[in-house]
Amino acid sequence: MSNSARKYLIAGNWKMNLNSAEGAELAKDVVSIVGPQTDVSVCVCPTFTTLEAVSQVVNDSNVSLGAQNMHFESAGAYTGEISAEMLRHLFCKFVILGHSERREYFGESDAIVNQKTLVALAANLKPIVCIGETLEEREAGKVNEVIKTQLEGALVGVTAADADALVVAYEPVWAIGTGKTATPEMAEEVHAEIRSLLASLLGAEAANKVRILYGGSMKPENADDLLAQPNIDGGLIGGAALKATSFAALVQSAQKRSK
Ligand code: 13P
Repeated sequence: MSNSARKYLIAGNWKMNLNSAEGAELAKDVVSIVGPQTDVSVCVCPTFTTLEAVSQVVNDSNVSLGAQNMHFESAGAYTGEISAEMLRHLFCKFVILGHSERREYFGESDAIVNQKTLVALAANLKPIVCIGETLEEREAGKVNEVIKTQLEGALVGVTAADADALVVAYEPVWAIGTGKTATPEMAEEVHAEIRSLLASLLGAEAANKVRILYGGSMKPENADDLLAQPNIDGGLIGGAALKATSFAALVQSAQKRSK
């Protein structure tokens, strides 16, 4: 295995696509193509309304279920929101938090992402905490500053004991859905920086356990080179996760490196 003791995680973020019937179909294909292997952790993250149908399909398989968001309160007058406990009830194992689309369109701040992260961990959900710079920030030479602010902001109160559950996703905003991928070297530079920030926050041993995923136009053609980087422990996949064949190819890329 190239990345020390960390098992690769390939997670599909289906975003606002696929109703429950369509999602169940895709999940069936994913289970049948990638299901038998256990070298790589595999997770699909449908919309809330598709979670239950997909949960039934992936039940008893090696494909885990994740949600794309959750609220930080456990219950109450929060119209339109979903709690961590509700996700656990449907057997979700992961939850994506602080995706750049939530930050941009729904005003999620680092403080909100932090509250959600702590609640997810307390509920035994593995948070996939998303961070990443915009093109403007990259061109202004602010990548490390943005990453530091977002990571430290999201992880206030998170401890070394949470390292096994914690997942960080580096998603440069300019690479999401644009077909522009960070080069493996560019991505690795930021992933190494994230690992070093994690070491300052949680200690080196804990930092080595945290999986850091790359996200942003990751596809079968570029996955091998990205996954070969020492601090890239998997991918958070948008477009390429909507087809079982391309998603399976990404899992196979990670599987090749796991042996
Ligand atoms: P794309 O793979 O479509 O660029 O999306 C990446 C992403 O935002 C995953 O969360």
